[in-house]
Amino acid sequence: MCSQAAHPALMIPGPIEFDDAVLQSMAHYSESHVGPGFVSTFGDTLSMLRKLFQTTNPASQPFVINGSGTLGWDMVAVNLVEPGENALVLSTGYFGDGFADCLTAYGANVTKITGPVGGRPQPDEIEKALKEKKYKIITATHVDTSTGVLFDLKSLSDVVKRVSPETLIIADGVCSVACEEIAFDDWGLDAVVTAGQKAIGCPTGLHISMFSGRAIDVVHNRKTEPATYFASMKRWIPIMQNYEAKKPSYFSTPSPQLIHALNTAVSQILARPLSERFQRHIEVSDKVKKAVADLGLKVVAAKPEDQAHAMTAIYLPDGVSIPDILPKLLNKGIIFAGGLHKEIGTKYIRFGHMGPSAMDPKRNDVDNALKALKESLAESGYKA
Ligand SMILES: Cc1ncc(COP(=O)(O)O)c(C=O)c1O
Repeated sequence: MCSQAAHPALMIPGPIEFDDAVLQSMAHYSESHVGPGFVSTFGDTLSMLRKLFQTTNPASQPFVINGSGTLGWDMVAVNLVEPGENALVLSTGYFGDGFADCLTAYGANVTKITGPVGGRPQPDEIEKALKEKKYKIITATHVDTSTGVLFDLKSLSDVVKRVSPETLIIADGVCSVACEEIAFDDWGLDAVVTAGQKAIGCPTGLHISMFSGRAIDVVHNRKTEPATYFASMKRWIPIMQNYEAKKPSYFSTPSPQLIHALNTAVSQILARPLSERFQRHIEVSDKVKKAVADLGLKVVAAKPEDQAHAMTAIYLPDGVSIPDILPKLLNKGIIFAGGLHKEIGTKYIRFGHMGPSAMDPKRNDVDNALKALKESLAESGYKA
């Protein structure tokens, strides 16, 4: 049973509803960030992340740093690319555009390929771009939270490995880690950056990432010093390696309470096979997409193969607006998010169905949200 105070179900695509045990982990008594108890918890957490990202390569390096998803963009932009080097950004919405802006801010020479609204750049466009210029990195948003478009990272990796094998493959996994399959080693990825507050199910405040041995070599072999202090991977690598080896280490104080919560969240995730978790998110997604279609509504990600499995962006029918529908949903105990894409932001709402809301059979979050959506639309005068 949920022991949290009664509250509306937070069904936005992050932050999500948190499990009781995860929240209770944050009530841990205060510890030194270099004391043996905490060092052991942090070390175990880093080791578990290897399993979550599906990497057994000892050269892969996990990072957990106070911050959020955006810190991952900064780490990639300031550590893997030197000013003037080329970066190819594949954008499927607001967050792809943000990653491009971040790379530009640190002096990368950015080329952006933007998919049609609700779609993604196609392999032939990507291949053409890779043949035209040498790119240090290519980035893709695995799930763009503004559109619910899923990027096929495996196919992307196949193209990059064939056409430009030296280009580092970077994925923004903020809305995909722990809900979409990510095979870090098998797909030859060089970085996946994420945050705690989405499908991992840990309160906001942590940047979480995995970098490949190739990416770490790039960090160590830069010609110029990175124009950052806090986001310098060179400073963080020994800290992460020491914690994982259960040795105290200090660069900037971690949050013991958040790391306890992350440890609990990842332990829960890994207690069952990851394949089961991904399949469950697919089943819940199928149910949501079918219910949306039965209501006569369309989702932003037009093609089924481009649809994310842990969130759905739903076009509102004519005559129903975001300021009209969100308060009606809230009256029924459900919180959805408005649109975020610059071209269509006022025309759709976003429904997150990930983590405990998708995995815990005792919660009725998804069914309640679908019922509330149907009723709210009817109150707005919409007939399916
Ligand atoms: C796909 C994606 N990338 C990056 C971010 C930025 O993460 P944060 O808001 O945790 O800094 C978000 C936030 O929602 C996101 O959904």
